[in-house]
Amino acid sequence: MKKLKIASIPGDGIGKEVVPASIDILNAIAEVHGGLKFEFVEFPWSCEYYLEHGMMMPEDGLKRLSDFDGIFLGAVGNPKLVPDHISLWGLLIKIRREFEQSINLRPAKVIKGIQSPLINPKDFDIMVVRENSEGEYSTVGGSIYQGEDEIAIQNAVFSRKATERAMRFAFDLSAKRNKHVTSATKSNGIVYSMPFWDKVFMEVSKDYPEIKKEAQHIDALAAFFVTQPSRFDVIVASNLFGDILTDIGAAIMGSIGIAPAANINVNGKYPSMFEPVHGSAPDIEGKGIANPIGQIWTAKMMLDHFGEEELGAKLLDCIEHVTGAGYLTPDLGGSSTTTDVTTSIIEQLKKI
Ligand code: NAD
Ligand code: IPM
Ligand code: MN
Repeated sequence: MKKLKIASIPGDGIGKEVVPASIDILNAIAEVHGGLKFEFVEFPWSCEYYLEHGMMMPEDGLKRLSDFDGIFLGAVGNPKLVPDHISLWGLLIKIRREFEQSINLRPAKVIKGIQSPLINPKDFDIMVVRENSEGEYSTVGGSIYQGEDEIAIQNAVFSRKATERAMRFAFDLSAKRNKHVTSATKSNGIVYSMPFWDKVFMEVSKDYPEIKKEAQHIDALAAFFVTQPSRFDVIVASNLFGDILTDIGAAIMGSIGIAPAANINVNGKYPSMFEPVHGSAPDIEGKGIANPIGQIWTAKMMLDHFGEEELGAKLLDCIEHVTGAGYLTPDLGGSSTTTDVTTSIIEQLKKI
């Protein structure tokens, strides 16, 4: 019997709705599979926790998480209670960085029964490899002067190690897919980091002669996501470019509510973290209509990560069976609830 010990952090807003739904699904899969068992331990770390304790997680929070095989997180952020930069840097970004989750994997593909807003989306299937540890998300900078002369300076940090790691990850992944890597650059306007990014991309690509490589400026690339998404296979992007691109990826799939993600610790020293692309969606919190598919598909990425690709593929099949049968939440134009979608997927799982 394979046992996986998973720390669950529902977090804020709809995270508290879609995480329990997805845990039900994972337990149902384990039941069907027989040889797999999950042990979930829930941590209530969130903005409400912050109000009570003055921090987003306890002092020994990371130490406690380090004992787990994986972390399953919903979303963090309730700007009405806690400023976003405090809640996110105190939990989500802290875990990503301290656990060296340097790769954020974010797929975007056509899903059965879900209407893309594009008129002719064709059959796109993209994987964005987002550098997840540095880049534009940096603590180097500050404010100088005061009042009308005030200037905020924010420095981006691009190390050769992290840049090369993201690029090698992208090429290795593409070797198992459609053998085409696109680098998201902006070296026409950003004079230090992006020419460096291009240089490392050229160097790394020499080790992968069988893979087609191209560099696209992020502005043009964003436009191609809308006009011709089927031209892409794997995209490697900096932290901020990858963040923005994957919200577009979610949008062209049909809704941000369905987009999954995995924050991967590539050296195996720390647990990886599985968390969808969307946030805590305060506007729909508590209404029971949050789309659980982003979190459920994220659970599929967690299964894949633990070598259960067959089960992962089955789960995606079940998701598509249910969306194909018209069980859609309001963000996708339907009237199903979070529970309707979840229970339909569980029913389908039991049939396979
Ligand atoms: P958001 O993703 O929470 O919401 C954007 C829009 O998409 C909203 O209209 C929301 O209702 C809708 N939406 C998102 N997920 C949905 C789902 N599963 N089903 C149906 N509709 C869904 O982004 P935001 O409004 O910019 O951020 C809200 C809060 O979440 C902020 O505090 C932000 O910092 C935080 N945030 C956290 C994460 C994370 O923890 N990974 C990611 C993004 C944003
Ligand atoms: C995401 C989110 C986070 C990010 C925010 C909430 C800090 O947008 O996971 O995509 O920018 O990484
Ligand atoms: Mn984002």
